[in-house]
Amino acid sequence: MLEAGMYQEKYRVDGKTAFITGGGRGIGLCAAHALAEAGARVIIADRDAEALRAGRQTLIDLGHRSVEAMVLDVTNVGDVGRAADTWNATFGSVDILVANAGIAWPDTGGEEMPDEAWRTVIDVNLNGVFWSCREFGRHMLGRGHGAIVTVGSMSGLISNRPQRQAHYNAAKAGVHHLTRSLAAEWAPRGVRVNSVAPGYIDTAMSGSGLRGEIGKLWLNDTPMQRGGRPDEIASVILFLATDAASLLTGSVIVADAGFTIW
Ligand code: NAI
Repeated sequence: MLEAGMYQEKYRVDGKTAFITGGGRGIGLCAAHALAEAGARVIIADRDAEALRAGRQTLIDLGHRSVEAMVLDVTNVGDVGRAADTWNATFGSVDILVANAGIAWPDTGGEEMPDEAWRTVIDVNLNGVFWSCREFGRHMLGRGHGAIVTVGSMSGLISNRPQRQAHYNAAKAGVHHLTRSLAAEWAPRGVRVNSVAPGYIDTAMSGSGLRGEIGKLWLNDTPMQRGGRPDEIASVILFLATDAASLLTGSVIVADAGFTIW
């Protein structure tokens, strides 16, 4: 039962292939770095070609040799399906999916929410996660193994203040329950599905808010009194993707500097 080196091995993903959506920057790029450092071949996918190019270069500059990049919009289900087929055929398997691509929308009150705002946020943040899980999950189920990590949010658990973002909150709550639902279906077939729910993280999405007036309100509501760094979310993603998390499926791990305690 106890073997020397067993824990070092559990946290490795040598020989595995990981596909990360929204991998051009922020949390997705950090997750790619984490997984590559733990031994995986990584494929970053992003709809922003320039972010993708810069992100790939960053990973190469960090010393990672097996880094692929593809332009992909996760709302295009046909393209997501083709990406899953292509990379599974190219590398034999895609063992890890990080369904991370997401957007925020400026403060939008429910009573005046434009149709476009609602539809777009649900389309990227919930539908895009489902398409990614379905298309990559199908291959994993065929092989009988795989690990999927979705990126939810503490906004799927609480309603943020003072900004109004019913669309974002609803989408992220949907991601959490989608995660649990797929986990239950796919657990007997060897595929684990878990989620990380970040608090405010210093990326392009929340960085200016954290440093602005609204950030003072956010940090006042945060026991640790600070925002998170994207690498602090990448560590959780890495854990969930490895055999160290072999007993976890359907879990939503909250990493929020304590925000949801209060
Ligand atoms: P970010 O804005 O730095 O990065 C998001 C990436 O996703 C960008 O490179 C963007 O081009 C890409 N993307 C957006 N829509 C896409 C689409 N349709 N198809 C493919 N790629 C697309 O944001 P960040 O902070 O790294 O966010 C990553 C995930 O973490 C998102 O799902 C976000 O909702 C979630 N999150 C972020 C928090 C934060 O405070 N930064 C808090 C809680 C959750």
